[in-house]
Amino acid sequence: MVYEIHSPEETEALGRRLGEALRERGIKRAFITLDGEMGVGKTVFCRGFASAFGITGVKSPTYTVVNEYRGGGASIYHFDLYRIDGYDDLESIGYHDYVESDGYSIVEWSVRAEDEIPEGAIGVVLERTQIESDRRITISGFQL
Ligand SMILES: Nc1ncnc2c1ncn2[C@@H]1O[C@H](COP(=O)(O)OP(=O)(O)OP(=O)(O)O)[C@@H](O)[C@H]1O
Ligand SMILES: [Mg+2]
Repeated sequence: MVYEIHSPEETEALGRRLGEALRERGIKRAFITLDGEMGVGKTVFCRGFASAFGITGVKSPTYTVVNEYRGGGASIYHFDLYRIDGYDDLESIGYHDYVESDGYSIVEWSVRAEDEIPEGAIGVVLERTQIESDRRITISGFQL
């Protein structure tokens, strides 16, 4: 499904809708990829996703690679794999343990770990358009 977005608030709202849909349908474990160029709004989307569980204060995990949040009975593992290089790097941050545990793994720059995306992942791709604050967001693998 493709969404035409006109502001950061709309991106955040779409992230929230995804979180709410999972929560309402009782889906307690999911792997969500967030891809698109630098500054396109991946972290903004994740902030919205987390807000569906009453979680605030989501910040970019760029230097820590993964941030863990808990709220509304859910765990969210927010990754940024921009600096990741290969299987060993992923292993050293506990990636595989996170992926197998209950909760939502939401992964910026999943393209850096293409071979390590579990089956059934929900894909979110963000793209810029001609207009500065517009984005095209495509969600695959899940019907909102
Ligand atoms: N429609 C939009 N959706 C999301 N962000 C937008 C939009 N329009 C403008 N922005 C701005 O773009 C920036 C997006 O920043 P964000 O940190 O979410 O990007 P990112 O994709 O996570 O980047 P990085 O790859 O560096 O982690 C914010 O400053 C936000 O205000
Ligand atoms: Mg980011």
